[in-house]
Amino acid sequence: MPATVVVGTQWGDEGKGKFTDLLAKDMSMVVRYQGGHNAGHTLVVDGEKFALQLIPSGVLYPYIVPVIGNGVVVDPFVLLAEMKMLQRRGVDTSNLKVSGNAHLIMPYHQQLDALHERHLGKAKLGTTKRGIGPAYSDKSMRLGIRVQDMLDEDIFAEKLHTVLSHTNKVLTKVFNRLPVDPDKLAEKVLSECLDGIKPLITDTVNLIHDSLEAGQHVLFEGAQATFLDLDHGTYPFVTSSNPTAGGACPGAGIGPRHIDRILGISKAYVTRVGAGPFPTELFDLDGDRMVDIGAEYGTNTGRRRRPGWVDAVMLRHAVRINSLSEMAITKLDVLDTFETVKICVAYEIDGQRVEKLPYHQSDLHRATPIYEELPGWQQDLTAATQASDLPPNAVTYLRILEEQIGIPITLVSTGPGRQQFLNWN
Ligand code: GDP
Ligand code: IMO
Ligand code: MG
Repeated sequence: MPATVVVGTQWGDEGKGKFTDLLAKDMSMVVRYQGGHNAGHTLVVDGEKFALQLIPSGVLYPYIVPVIGNGVVVDPFVLLAEMKMLQRRGVDTSNLKVSGNAHLIMPYHQQLDALHERHLGKAKLGTTKRGIGPAYSDKSMRLGIRVQDMLDEDIFAEKLHTVLSHTNKVLTKVFNRLPVDPDKLAEKVLSECLDGIKPLITDTVNLIHDSLEAGQHVLFEGAQATFLDLDHGTYPFVTSSNPTAGGACPGAGIGPRHIDRILGISKAYVTRVGAGPFPTELFDLDGDRMVDIGAEYGTNTGRRRRPGWVDAVMLRHAVRINSLSEMAITKLDVLDTFETVKICVAYEIDGQRVEKLPYHQSDLHRATPIYEELPGWQQDLTAATQASDLPPNAVTYLRILEEQIGIPITLVSTGPGRQQFLNWN
């Protein structure tokens, strides 16, 4: 029953989409298990770029069944727009399935997300304002509306009445906004979305298990990343789901024993969008070079990503939290022109050397990185397709990084294109 999880090991945008697409070639099914359209996963195939938010990154292969699992929060308008975008570009989306148990993001969730952020002022999280937090809050409050509720007009309207009797009080009394009319909203969602969504609604849990039992390969595509995880990330500067590999279990309805390969994805440096601690963050020209060369602007929101050197302390923690079996390193080519490259191997906190991620976040805020500085390779890697194409300094960099994180690096990406990677080890 071969199941693989692809998971981000930093703060997102590591290149999960690229490697999901790459690995998907040998899979039958690709499943998203958490998050929503806060994700932006980029695939570049034959020079053509696809930026996916909700639809799994295996969709470009006609034989793959892309599945949006129960743990995902789905904006039906966004889903239909993304399907149309793909269809216009000649991609067949007819295999797409959506769990009836996935929760819906409604327009009031997006409105609340923006209002909460404004209310927080300087303490804002820098969310994507896609309504993710409010939708998962409603799910936890048992006020959420699920995809399957769309199938019955009366149930859908009744559920909207129930949730809005609460949410309208928040909108009007806390935020001084107009209330949402549940009947008008029900009419709008069902008239504009039901025909498109209905054929996708599936019992995805049994679908996934039938596939696994038939010996087919299923890939679980994480969105966001380990340090944006609601439980294990840099709370409160996190998303509202569990992107870590274990999240694939509740988010798709599999058990831990189904998973036999867990591939972590890390950039050769780090980026973060939004607020929160970031020990190796750079505010200098090296950081600007990473942003410029790596085109570090959000796939989804266009925001400049904060850059920094790769942090092995965090990666070692990600290895533990996700029980990673291997790591893929992306964007090695972005460091091609650097005279020297750095790996953070430990932190100094109050004069002490610390090799594990501090348990108290206030310590993380005071952590100063201890770097191992290595000579750069100063050579174009974008055409490298095998390990022997790499210059000695790039090999040394990868070997030291591998020693630091303690698991094998198996794949290295040297450009955005599907073919720009090499097998390592
Ligand atoms: P994801 O959210 O983890 O799927 O990552 P994003 O798609 O948000 O961001 C990764 C960006 O880096 C995208 O623009 C990719 O096309 C690009 N990319 C991925 N791998 C590489 C690589 O090895 N080198 C370079 N230069 N770009 C890459
Ligand atoms: P992919 O899948 C990078 C960040 C936001 C913010 C925090 C909470 O492309 O790697 P949210 O809207 O989820 O409530 O925002 O999480 N964030 C991401 N950062 N990549 C992502 O997705 C992200 N999804 C959310 O910037 O800091
Ligand atoms: Mg992204």
